[in-house]
Amino acid sequence: MKNLIIAPSVLAADFAHLGSEVQMLQESKAQWIHIDVMDGVFVPNISFGFPVIDAIKKYTDKFLDVHLMIVQPEKYLEKFAQAGAHMITVHLEACPHIHRTIQQIKSLGCQAGVAINPGTPVHALQDILADVDLVLIMSVNPGFGGQKFISNAISKTKEVARMAKEAGNPTVFIEIDGGVSLSNAPALIEAGANALVAGSFVFNSKDPQETISQLVDLAK
Ligand code: DX5
Ligand code: ZN
Repeated sequence: MKNLIIAPSVLAADFAHLGSEVQMLQESKAQWIHIDVMDGVFVPNISFGFPVIDAIKKYTDKFLDVHLMIVQPEKYLEKFAQAGAHMITVHLEACPHIHRTIQQIKSLGCQAGVAINPGTPVHALQDILADVDLVLIMSVNPGFGGQKFISNAISKTKEVARMAKEAGNPTVFIEIDGGVSLSNAPALIEAGANALVAGSFVFNSKDPQETISQLVDLAK
């Protein structure tokens, strides 16, 4: 399989000690760092924005996987690119002109991802699959860390993997986000997921670096 990417979400970090938390991720086996931006409109919660991403960047040179849970993301894409995002993922539900938005992200020199909520059917991705670098399948309703995994993500993953091959984009990243742990990760990988976000499972564990290693080792 394509290398398995583990993307710990800093949403679950201790924000009062963000420097040392990011340093810990920098020294871990995680390949990406997942950054959850919430606007209080698209989702019922507000997380953080550009100054925090700027601060994170000072402690890591890892791939920054920015997940925008905001309405009208097109207004801010340039600022996220300048802030150092490597991947910018927008929600299909927030983008009436998803094709244009994806092209905008690419024109800024970033990789482009599209995310779908648990209630959005995978077939809605059909006509954008060939154009994206990543599909993010939400396995919780976005807005909060620490929620229970919604298992329809497994069958959705299988279907996206099949559709991606059919669309001529078999190497697309298929990322799962929400409630991911060592108990559901093997089934997700088996279904075709090749990028896993993990927030509370990593940060609430006794030894986050060891937990990250265990997730990374699932690829073996
Ligand atoms: C939820 C976010 C997730 C969240 C995952 O809206 O998109 O990235 O941080 O957290 P856990 O792994 O705790 O479900
Ligand atoms: Zn996320």
